[in-house]
Amino acid sequence: MSAGADAATSSDGDVAAQARRRRSFAVISHPDAGKSTLTEALALHARMISEAGAVHGKSGRRGVVSDWMELERARGISITSAALQFSYGDSVINLLDTPGHADFSEDTYRVLAAVDSAVMLLDAAKGLEPQTLKLFDVCRHRGIPVITFVNKWDRPGREALELCDELSERLGLTPMPLTWPVGEAGHFRGVLDVTDGSFVRYARTAGGATVAQEKRLPAEWAEAEEGDAFTRAVEEAELVAASGGEFDVARFLDGSASPVLFGAAVLNFGVRHLLDLLVELAPRPEPWVDVDGEPRPLDADFSAFVFKVQTGMDPAHRDQVAFARVCSGVFERGMVVTNATTKRPFATKYAHQVFGQQRSTVDIAYPGDVIGLVNASALRVGDTLYSGRPAVRFPGLPSFAPAHFAVARPADLSKSKQFRKGVEQLGSEGVVQILTSDLRGDAAPVFAAVGPMQFEVAAHRMEHEFNSPVKLDRLPYSTVRRLVDPAQRALVDAGRSSEVLTRADGTDLALFADDMSMRILLRRHPDLRLEPLVAAGE
Ligand code: G4P
Repeated sequence: MSAGADAATSSDGDVAAQARRRRSFAVISHPDAGKSTLTEALALHARMISEAGAVHGKSGRRGVVSDWMELERARGISITSAALQFSYGDSVINLLDTPGHADFSEDTYRVLAAVDSAVMLLDAAKGLEPQTLKLFDVCRHRGIPVITFVNKWDRPGREALELCDELSERLGLTPMPLTWPVGEAGHFRGVLDVTDGSFVRYARTAGGATVAQEKRLPAEWAEAEEGDAFTRAVEEAELVAASGGEFDVARFLDGSASPVLFGAAVLNFGVRHLLDLLVELAPRPEPWVDVDGEPRPLDADFSAFVFKVQTGMDPAHRDQVAFARVCSGVFERGMVVTNATTKRPFATKYAHQVFGQQRSTVDIAYPGDVIGLVNASALRVGDTLYSGRPAVRFPGLPSFAPAHFAVARPADLSKSKQFRKGVEQLGSEGVVQILTSDLRGDAAPVFAAVGPMQFEVAAHRMEHEFNSPVKLDRLPYSTVRRLVDPAQRALVDAGRSSEVLTRADGTDLALFADDMSMRILLRRHPDLRLEPLVAAGE
């Protein structure tokens, strides 16, 4: 796949200008809202894929997004993430894929640490769903601006006004519709362009396989032809605008409001609007702030940070690929960079763009781009890479509050050496967080995860990669806090359904069976200092 078209990768020597062309974003959604379909439609619009259907990994279609690991194949899901790059007009779009399964993991969060904006994709019939809410929280925490795309408008669904209300009520996010559907969900004929009052009429193409036909018509024409449906759209859009939803780019950028578009990805309706909006409004790469709070200028020497490490993507080679976002300078394949954590050099002879099973060699990359570094066993999530001067180190990626816990033991005691090695590796890659305590001892570490799927991935890798099958026994904890004062450890350990475990980064986590058992302990020991845990790097 010529993922990096010539226009995207050619060097004109001006790094800042190249950075300005980049838009790096991710789609946040609940499974089945249509993320794969939208990805395909966006790529189609950019004419990278000649016929829709090539990106999707499901039944009967060519699987490109996933199936790197046997486990993924068995479950028909995508666990891995990658970046898709394409040119659109003069812009270069980097779409970072977030794992698409129902149970999500820290990897999903980490992808959001590497993007400049997000598209929140909603199913018109369902509105906000649990996973979307969690991912939105991460965007808000990071201050990433969010564009909302209401999908599947070609099917019966909820009222557009009701969906807008839901955004403001549940997320505290002001909806700023830029288009408004004409014809209720299920009878979708086009959209009102709120910015100029015209009607954009869509025409279906066979199977949605090519770019949808769009015709822009003046309001008078639309009123005559579409009658009530158009008048109603105008009235509803005005109602939202009057209640604070008038478009304001500053409110989009500060995260308090979200532009809203309506469409049907499967028919490619509304997809061009979304691309245009990304190009026009989505933030471009900005100087990335280092551990000392200093922004590294875009045209400084090369720097990047690793946001994801993936092992075993190519079953034939069992290699490890580190995905890094370029923060400054020009990346040129073959350059030798320094890993700021170890101070060791790292040769980048094998740099790829990875999208699904396809890899293409990356020769040059700019701020906002994602590079996949092969043979990267020395790299860890959160590492900074740089070349030249001055040396730089970006803040490590946060670890999110785990919600699932399991004690891991080697199934075969004669493999304890392999067991230890595997546990250490999985912990350093961030596949699971590793928790220990003196009480439990080293032989039985606790795996902690944001989503239980991480356990399956860890168990699979322990068996197949480290030759040490594991037994995992789930622990009945669901509430976790940071224990502020290590001297208070005994108070928690003495509780009937609580204990303290220490994470590899040194954070003491107080685990409780539920909120109630935590509250009981706090009532008994009002001086016990516990803090909510969002991220380790807070
Ligand atoms: P995901 O990656 O978010 O999990 O969702 P995906 O794109 O796989 O889409 C989930 C289902 O929703 C698919 O149907 C897809 O065709 C459908 N879909 C996506 N966008 C639209 C849309 O705009 N309108 C309508 N009506 N459907 C849409 P499926 O039956 O599960 O799979 P398939 O057999 O179509 O591949």
